[in-house]
Amino acid sequence: MTLTGKAAIITGAAHGIGRATALRLAREGASVLVADIQDDLGHDTVRAIEAAGGIAHYVHADVGVHEDVRHMIERGVERFGRLDILVNNAYWSKPGSVVELEEADWDRAMAIMLKALYLAGKYAFPEMKKVGGGAVVNMASVHGSAAWPNNAVYETAKAGVINLTRQMAIDGGPLGIRVNAVSPGWILTHEFTPTPDTDAWVKRLYAVGRAGQPEEMAAVINFLVSDEASFVTGHNLVADGGLSIQLQDSRNLAPPGFSW
Ligand SMILES: NC(=O)c1ccc[n+]([C@@H]2O[C@H](COP(=O)([O-])OP(=O)(O)OC[C@H]3O[C@@H](n4cnc5c(N)ncnc54)[C@H](O)[C@@H]3O)[C@@H](O)[C@H]2O)c1
Repeated sequence: MTLTGKAAIITGAAHGIGRATALRLAREGASVLVADIQDDLGHDTVRAIEAAGGIAHYVHADVGVHEDVRHMIERGVERFGRLDILVNNAYWSKPGSVVELEEADWDRAMAIMLKALYLAGKYAFPEMKKVGGGAVVNMASVHGSAAWPNNAVYETAKAGVINLTRQMAIDGGPLGIRVNAVSPGWILTHEFTPTPDTDAWVKRLYAVGRAGQPEEMAAVINFLVSDEASFVTGHNLVADGGLSIQLQDSRNLAPPGFSW
């Protein structure tokens, strides 16, 4: 157990990577505040943690709303008496090119995926300072270093997450707070039925030959928030099964059969 006595807040912890991370950090001994807008699923995460002998509490927090973010941090400190770990994981996005995307959808997506991280840091840092420091993980994506058709706001927000992480690391350093980002490749968090085409695509583009599991991201996050990563801050840890290596493989930049 690497996190005994620590208190963590995880946003978007009702489902997917957030849920797996909540279960993992609780297993490592942390008390976990599960924050989400899907209340039933959020309570379910708490029940799963408690059934495994861990400590957790649920809070309804729409991280796209300033007051909810403030309340979420307050609630965590009130419940567990301290704050050591923050995982900014929640997300909502809408596909669309810059022409198609409605302004309201751009604003909401940016509020949830980017502004929420700044707000959570604003209220979490003073609490972490009180206990001598802490660790923050911001969920970015391989899409934060890429461009993808009809995905203007997601790609932009995740690129912002990577640089906001560096800013937060600079701000947090003197307070003993480390801040890192994780950029996953494709992680199987939703129902998905593979086809021969998707199988071939994954085998070609992922060096490990498969998509990832939420528990594999939870393991990466657990490392970054633990003392094992005490000299790691401002880093964007790409955990993508080798996808980005393949994208940088120059053979993927030219059609088959082309020679220079
Ligand atoms: N799954 C992937 O392939 C993948 C790849 C790269 C990056 N990521 C990133 O990892 C993170 C988690 O992704 P996932 O696939 O586990 O997502 P998911 O859809 O399984 O879960 C997202 C959670 O966020 C919650 N949420 C949505 N809006 C919210 C709001 N306003 N306030 C609070 N909670 C809210 C949802 O209710 C849900 O529980 C995201 O930041 C995502 O961008 C995922």
